[in-house]
Amino acid sequence: MLQVSETRLAIATEALRKAEERAVAGRLALEVMHEVKNPLEALGHLNYLALQEADDPVQVRKYLLLAEEQMENLGHIAKQTLGFSQQMEKPRSVDLVTVAEAAIRIHQRTIEEKRIHLVKDLPEGAIAKVFTGEMLQVVSNLIVNALDALPAEGILRLRIRKRNDQIDFVIADNGHGIASEHQGALFQPFFTTKTDKGTGLGLALSKRIIERHDGRIRVRSSVRPGKSGTAFKISLPLR
Ligand SMILES: Nc1ncnc2c1ncn2[C@@H]1O[C@H](COP(=O)(O)OP(=O)(O)OP(=O)(O)O)[C@@H](O)[C@H]1O
Ligand SMILES: [Mg+2]
Repeated sequence: MLQVSETRLAIATEALRKAEERAVAGRLALEVMHEVKNPLEALGHLNYLALQEADDPVQVRKYLLLAEEQMENLGHIAKQTLGFSQQMEKPRSVDLVTVAEAAIRIHQRTIEEKRIHLVKDLPEGAIAKVFTGEMLQVVSNLIVNALDALPAEGILRLRIRKRNDQIDFVIADNGHGIASEHQGALFQPFFTTKTDKGTGLGLALSKRIIERHDGRIRVRSSVRPGKSGTAFKISLPLR
């Protein structure tokens, strides 16, 4: 009996993971569209101005140089985004910084609304072979949890470190922390303290994904007043 329900749970979890992966990808696409809108609009304006002042080569040249900058912006956005929409089904060697930046982008608006201080320590060159969509899902989950726990103007830290044959990726907040009696249950499906909205699947799914990548996920947390906070550390094998 127990085995049957565990199999069912595994199947349901996998279905949910896939659905969530699509949701995260969709969300990223929306944010990217939002970012693309500005440079596109600027290009439209610059084009209009250049046409208006077509007789003045100095002005036209100025507009074209500004347009070039906007196109570089667009190129940069495209480069950063590519790979999250394509080939989600295959593991790829990616710099985890790209994953971190995409996850931040997904939650950028919440970060701004809550006036969160984002501290990024993300040196390039931490290359891991991962399912990018899944890894994005994990980092996104951990950021959501941190943002939920943080008060306005709280601190969210993202840090990536390469050491020996592994990469550590830490997502830390100085929010309310996790009571020690809850720490053992965190990664169990359906454990949640969020009465209004949580399903309690975020960490369970994340753990599953990380283990599928031969990695580990650990937590340290404190509820000590004035020193409270939580840090999740993902460790992945290099390449
Ligand atoms: N950074 C954090 N700070 C404080 N508590 C946390 C943090 N991350 C997780 N938790 C605790 O762990 C519980 C489980 O987290 P998990 O992400 O699995 O589920 P959830 O966030 O409640 O719901 P869901 O992610 O499914 O929307 C949370 O309800 C919360 O109590
Ligand atoms: Mg969660």
